[in-house]
Amino acid sequence: MRKILIAPSILSADFSKLGQEVKEVEKAGADLLHIDVMDGHFVNNITIGAAVVKSLRPVTKLPFDVHLMIENPEDYIESFAKAGSDLITFHIEIEEDPKELIRLIRYYKKKVGISVKPKTDVKRILPLLAMVDMVLVMTVEPGFGGQDFLFDCLEKVREVRDNFKKDVEVDGGVNEMVCADIVKKGANILVAGSYVFGSKDYAEAIKRLRGAQ
Ligand code: DX5
Ligand code: ZN
Repeated sequence: MRKILIAPSILSADFSKLGQEVKEVEKAGADLLHIDVMDGHFVNNITIGAAVVKSLRPVTKLPFDVHLMIENPEDYIESFAKAGSDLITFHIEIEEDPKELIRLIRYYKKKVGISVKPKTDVKRILPLLAMVDMVLVMTVEPGFGGQDFLFDCLEKVREVRDNFKKDVEVDGGVNEMVCADIVKKGANILVAGSYVFGSKDYAEAIKRLRGAQ
């Protein structure tokens, strides 16, 4: 059985003490740090830029799982790569050529993830699966933390898993009630923002999610 990895999303952290929050989730047993990058165009929210990623890099050893929800991602791959990202995920719904983007991320020797929004057919990414390290299945409409998990998206997790042996990550509305179902469908990385950062005990929250197996 695959090990379940937990990736807290810092979108729900207290930004006034971000470095400390990151250290705390690392100590609490997180496996990756999920960083949501939004530009106010691809989604209706603006969050974190490469400068924040760079300043967090010396604070933790956790791999940085950078989720780009931006238009024209090719213009920003270099800065996010140089800021210390380990894995860079982009959305299939952007207008650019996904193969070019994958090549660009590889040029900087970073792992590549590809993501699908809830209404996007998984078939759109099937031809690219051999070129990527991870698939991120969105289970809320991207843009904000703290939304309800969309159960309709669960079958997509299975469809991806049936066609892909590497990492399958689920992002949006993940909590202790839904994590077992997600893992049953074949996901092995769980992103959780509000569930982890909204809990009093980060270690307990992470343990509960990991117990999903
Ligand atoms: C939403 C982001 C998510 C978000 C998850 O667009 O991609 O990573 O932070 O937050 P929760 O776990 O609260 O749904
Ligand atoms: Zn995300």
